[in-house]
This record gives sequence, C-alpha cells and structure tokens, in this order.
Amino acid sequence: MKESAMAKHNNLMEKIVSLCKRRGFIFPGSEIYGGLANSWDYGPLGVELKNNIKQLWWKKFVHERDDVVGLDAALIMNPKVWEASGHLKEFSDPLVECKKCHERYRAGDVGLVVPKIGLTRMVADACSKCGSREYTPPRRFNLMLKTSLGPLDQYPIILNLGSLYQRKEELNGIQEKNKDQQKELEELEKEIQRLTMIINSSTFYFRPETAQSMFVNFKNILDTTRKTLPFGIAQIGKAFRNEITPGNFIFRTREFEQMEIEYFVRENEWKKWFEYWKDEMMEWMKEIGIDKKHVHAVEVPEGERAHYSKRTIDFEYEFPFGQKELYGLAYRTDFDLKNHFKEAPYKDAHSQADGGEALYPHVVEPTWGVDRSVLAVLCEAYDDSDAERIVLHLKPALAPYQAAVFPLLANKPELVKLAKKIYDDLRKEFSVAWDDRGNIGKRYYAQDEIGTPYCITVDFDSLEKYDVTVRDRDTAKQERISTNELRSYLNKSLFR
Ligand code: GAP
Repeated sequence: MKESAMAKHNNLMEKIVSLCKRRGFIFPGSEIYGGLANSWDYGPLGVELKNNIKQLWWKKFVHERDDVVGLDAALIMNPKVWEASGHLKEFSDPLVECKKCHERYRAGDVGLVVPKIGLTRMVADACSKCGSREYTPPRRFNLMLKTSLGPLDQYPIILNLGSLYQRKEELNGIQEKNKDQQKELEELEKEIQRLTMIINSSTFYFRPETAQSMFVNFKNILDTTRKTLPFGIAQIGKAFRNEITPGNFIFRTREFEQMEIEYFVRENEWKKWFEYWKDEMMEWMKEIGIDKKHVHAVEVPEGERAHYSKRTIDFEYEFPFGQKELYGLAYRTDFDLKNHFKEAPYKDAHSQADGGEALYPHVVEPTWGVDRSVLAVLCEAYDDSDAERIVLHLKPALAPYQAAVFPLLANKPELVKLAKKIYDDLRKEFSVAWDDRGNIGKRYYAQDEIGTPYCITVDFDSLEKYDVTVRDRDTAKQERISTNELRSYLNKSLFR
C-alpha cells in the first residue's frame, strides 16, 4: 500500500474518531447493545456537517444550473432492474481467504490486483490476523445486499431446500439407481425448482448505487422537463453493498450515501464532457476545503473497471490509512439505457445533428461518496499543532455552527439578556450556538474543536457601546464590532 502523506500526521484517524465521538459528530452504531461492526450514526454536529455538504452539492450542481434536474427514488427497485443493469451477474469483488486462519479479504486489500481476467500481482501483503501470505485463489463475491419483501418467511424454505439438496446428492452418488430412487430424484428436482421459484419471487435488493433509478426514470424526466441533450439527472441518497471488508471508520461501510449525476450526451461529445466533469469535480474538492495536493486522479485500467465503464478515473485521496478512492468519474456509454429501454428513448425533433432520429444518449457519470467527503473534510480540517487547542478549520459553509454567542458571565442578567437578543437575531440567518458554561477561554476552545468560525462575546462594554468581541477561529484574533453591523460582518467574513 502506498504510504499516505496524511499518515505522517501522528495517529490522525484515532484522533478524528475520538473527536467525533466526544463532540457528537459520529457515534458507533447500536452502541448500547455492544455495537454493530462498521455501522456509524451521525450525531447532532455530524448531521449538520453532512447536510451542509449535501446542500452545497445540490446548490452547485442542481439549483445553479439549467441543465441538471433532481430525483429522489425508492431504495428497493424491481429486481429486473438489477438483471438488466448487469449487477446480479457482474457486481462483485474478488474475495480471497487466508489459507492459515481463514480470514476473508477483498483481494485488493491484501495487495492482490485481480482484473476480470487472471491475477496480475501475485505477491500479497501479510494477513492482518496471522501474518501468513498464502491465500486461496480469488473468487467473485456478489456485493448486492439482499432482503425479502412480503409475508413469506424464507428461512424454513431455505432449510427445506438444504435437506432436499443433501438427499439429491446422496441419490446422485448411487451408481445404479432402482426405479423408486429414479422417481424420487425426479420428484426432488421438481420440488427444488418450485421452492427456488418461491424464494426468488420474494427476494429483493437494496440499491448498490443511486444511478439505476436515474436511468429507469429517464423517459419520465424527459417527458416532464422537456430537457434536450446535454443534460443531467442528479440524486443524493443511500446505497447498500455487502462489502467483504468494511472498515476504516466511515470510509467503507455496508450502508452509505452517494451524490451522483448521470449526464446524458451525444456519443461524439463524451470526451469533451468527461474532461468538463473532471474539472468540475476538482473545483468541488477545492470548495469543500480539500487540498489538491492530497488528491490523485488515477486512470483505472481496462479489466479493473466496473462492467459498464469504458473509461474511469478514480480520484484518490491521501487518507491516513493510505491513498484510496474518494470519488469516481466514469464513461458508461449507452450501456444502461440500452439495457433498460428496448426502443431508443431520446428524440430531439429540433436537432439537425441526428436528423430527428431517436437515439440512445451516452452517459458521463461523476459520483461522490457523502461519507467519504465527510472523512476527507475532517482529515483536512483537523489541526492540533497548537499545544493549547485543537482546531477544525472547516470551510464556514460546512461548519455545524457558523457562529457562537456568549454572555461573558452567565450570572449577570443584563449580559445574558443582550446576548440572547443577539443570538435570536442572528439565528434567523445563520446557524448559531449558545454557550454560557465555564470560563470564556474554555468556551472558545470548545467551539474551535467543532469548527465554529466566529465566537461573539457580550461584555460590560457592550451594554454601553453596543458592540461585541468577535473572535476568529483560525487566527484567534479578536476585534470589536458594532451590534448593528454584526449580520453584515458575518455575511462578508463567512462567504468571502
Ligand atoms: N454509480 C457508480 C458507482 O456507484 P462507485 O465507485 O462504486 O461508483 C461511487 O461508488 C462512490 O461511492 C465512491 O467513489 C465512494 O465515494 C462511495 N462508496 C462506494 N462504496 C462505498 C462504501 N462501501 N462505503 C462508503 N462509500 C462508498
């Protein structure tokens, strides 16, 4: 594994996980019942940070554009979608098992590169449990997360099927079957088929990507919006994958959120739009405070790309645990629309370019993981270089609170009254915290640690001069600002 620059930042992951728990960003899932491995709950501050990322994304890529419209589709779709999209057959990771202790890994996680054909890298990393370097040959493990819908209890049927298969094996082992045994085998075959059909008809899948609902709604969206090429459909929502090795906090989980755009273009223009979206993705990273020095656009070679892609770039970020995929950009050709629509679904009557012919648009797909965005943003923002304090240098648009208001002393009603008035006034426009506990220095440090850009303190001078102290999170510098100018000061400073 390539060593990450961030790894040099001592124990950064441990520090971030600890801060997230301590300050209410992210908690271990189901904690009071002993937890559930690799499941995480976003707490009061985490949900604000995550929502701010999603809102900024929606504003930038949907509201501020004429060529992208939104969708919010169901998480569970007709299983035919996954048959047509190729996910039931192709959406898998290569799984290897340590020959000594039987721990299972995604081949890539122990340094084995397994393209669709063959194995290109044979030297594996040591098993993290027992140190052995010997693994079983890779086999494909489907990542679709299954569920069953309806009043049918699948479990007894599966048990029944198990014993039928066992009996079938016994009978098949008999070299010369008598008539009764032959008949029993035929009956068994029929029963296995019947039960398998019952199981299949109640098996459904949680979506492994938000993308497919955008493809299957392509015509609905076209008919209702009358968009013409090029245009995009955007969606933010949960996706589920039965990952072999989830881990590294919120980096790889079985339940996560994506922000995706399917951008529909004419075939001969895909290269231009691919470059366009590459730049847009780099620009987005800058906007949320990710230093481009920590991001590497890596071309995914043929054989390692997803089954639908003719070109993919992974934007890899230098996470503390190594350089890993943060976002992706794929050219999906017309693969998905062709699989879902028997007839070409797009006809642009006004277009000279295709003579009014119906066509299958091609797709350029930029995709962003929400949880990985949160993690990368936290890695960039965390700063404990000052012995006195920990600071999260979050972009103001992402910070859970944009400002905090304090009365200098909590037991002076006149200070509390004016501070409360300022707090209520600012809350109409900004997300604002209130704190009147402990001494002022501790309050500043507490706000630094959760990334609040400005702290506003009401003191005795404020009562006479109608001004307050505003302290900047990043520089710790303080200045006096008139209460009348506070709103415009914050607007200017937060969004400059
Ligand atoms: N529609 C294309 C698609 O789903 P992907 O590269 O498999 O492509 C897109 O996933 C993004 O979703 C990734 O770049 C990553 O940010 C995020 N992601 C994928 N699997 C994840 C997981 N198990 N946990 C958290 N985020 C994940």
